[in-house]
Amino acid sequence: MTHKKLDGLKFTWWAPSNIALVKYWGKKEGHQLPANPSVSLTLNESKTRVELNVLKTEECSQNTPWIDLYFSGKKMPSFIPKIEKFFKHASEELPFLNDYKFLLKTENTFPHSAGIASSASSMAALALNLVELEQTVKGHNFSETEFWQRASFLARMGSGSACRSVFPHAASWGETDNFGSDLFAERVECHPIFKSMYDSIVVVNASEKKVSSRAGHGLMNDHFYGKARYHHALTNWHHSIEWLKDGSWDNLGNLVEEEALSLHAMMMTSRPGYILMEPQTITAIHLVREYRYRTGVPLYFTLDAGPNLHLLYPEEYRADVSKFLVDLKDQLGANVSIIDDKVGTGPYRIKEKEQL
Ligand code: PMV
Repeated sequence: MTHKKLDGLKFTWWAPSNIALVKYWGKKEGHQLPANPSVSLTLNESKTRVELNVLKTEECSQNTPWIDLYFSGKKMPSFIPKIEKFFKHASEELPFLNDYKFLLKTENTFPHSAGIASSASSMAALALNLVELEQTVKGHNFSETEFWQRASFLARMGSGSACRSVFPHAASWGETDNFGSDLFAERVECHPIFKSMYDSIVVVNASEKKVSSRAGHGLMNDHFYGKARYHHALTNWHHSIEWLKDGSWDNLGNLVEEEALSLHAMMMTSRPGYILMEPQTITAIHLVREYRYRTGVPLYFTLDAGPNLHLLYPEEYRADVSKFLVDLKDQLGANVSIIDDKVGTGPYRIKEKEQL
């Protein structure tokens, strides 16, 4: 194969996590193709840094692993199988990956297993590094649009929801009758109210999930409510695109809660069914709704595939909600923590000089 020698090259990207408003749950046949379109907000504070080093050929022996990985400065062999799987898929697109060995150094701004999807931020950051490598191999730069689309395409191969993390503010993933693709996500136009929206993440349980997202997606095959859910999600997708654009947060907030509970309803009615919400999740839902009805503050919750809540609210209610969060924490107990996040502008590259 003729390609430029990549020996010793190093790239670094930060990429954020994202929170889905309309949930991707269930896959079509193929590799990581969504059964329904989804929409998300890109986060700002919860992010992952991935430094990708291409090892010099002369430094590699037969025993040097394809991928070696340090997380927060510590060797982390348990992370490697997932990354190797991703590299295997990515190498179908980027065959030059097979000719090199790589050292990854990563860190999160949030505690590992804090219930925040670190796979979305880490796979997005890794994918961005791979696009940079691809550009080097090809000897030319992609156009702006091609670059982000390619990164989203590769991120999807690592973790479906990761493909939405490469865009600022809001992104959509999945084919519909008039928009989008199952292969990569796209940026979605949104009203300024969403660009400064807050997301306070209430961590009620930070331990590893009892049922992985992979297993959960699998249980959507032959799910009794599967078809109805995909139809429901598509309808919600259309509404959310419209409301994101025109800034109708109350409409969208109600839809977002409906989506969160529908996601968990799918889990509860799978065969076998399972429950990821904890008693504190339910308590928090009641308290959020009671607070909203009583005060009129447009605070809405959503959930990922886990027990933790994302509480979304416009910037102008920051002071009110901060007070509410103190009370909420008191009522939920000492083991609950809150991670303060908001909507952000997407990934960014660290230039070589800044790394020193
Ligand atoms: O990307 P995955 O395979 O971890 O699945 C993510 C699923 C949800 O977080 C529950 C929903 C979503 O669209 O992000």
